[in-house]
Amino acid sequence: MNREQEFFKLDHLSPKTKVLDVGCGEQKKVPWAVGIDRVATAAADVVHDLDRTPWPFDADSFEVVVAAQVIEHVADLPGFFAELHRICRPGAEIRLATPHYTSPDSHADPTHRHGLAYRTFEFFADAPDGNALPAAQRWANRLLGLEATVAGWYGCPRFELVERRITFRKLHRLVGVDRLAAHLPLFYEYFLGGFAPARDLQVVLRVRK
Ligand SMILES: C[S@@+](CC[C@H](N)C(=O)[O-])C[C@H]1O[C@@H](n2cnc3c(N)ncnc32)[C@H](O)[C@@H]1O
Repeated sequence: MNREQEFFKLDHLSPKTKVLDVGCGEQKKVPWAVGIDRVATAAADVVHDLDRTPWPFDADSFEVVVAAQVIEHVADLPGFFAELHRICRPGAEIRLATPHYTSPDSHADPTHRHGLAYRTFEFFADAPDGNALPAAQRWANRLLGLEATVAGWYGCPRFELVERRITFRKLHRLVGVDRLAAHLPLFYEYFLGGFAPARDLQVVLRVRK
């Protein structure tokens, strides 16, 4: 099982949990999820372009949302997150994976519209999360001049930033870049990203209403 399969392994959920798989492609991550995709794939229960809002779901419909390798395709990310916020129940969990901007995969696909960074999801966070960082990370960021926060810019709907990590391919894991980036993600992005490209960003958000 690779890291993305592990991240989206949601065996603990009961089949009663209302799950949405956004940009589900050919196979949903959770078998009973509602799949939405702009292409009529075998897994898509709803064929709809995510750039067209509103999405065809009622407010407060879902408890869990998975979005694997799709947000980099969406034109209007603030609009995308506003729709996610509307259709999710309070406290709903959103799990998403997307190529990190340093990955060649982020640039190779001509239909990708964004290269996303560790801080991208702070724009949708409900509060500056600087204070929640481990003390060593806070001090390192201060020392390196990386302490600015972007939380709450643009008045986007609010999410709690529960978890985020930068993932790497095996070679970089072997030499420990993944461990360094886990402890000092901004140091990695600002000073090492060009030398040691990452793979994906994996992010967990919780809906605040
Ligand atoms: C790289 S595939 C990932 C598929 C699946 N989530 C997976 O992990 O295997 C991206 C998927 O997002 C869908 N997609 C891209 N842009 C979309 C949009 N604007 N609206 C709806 N679906 C979109 C594509 O049709 C495709 O199925």
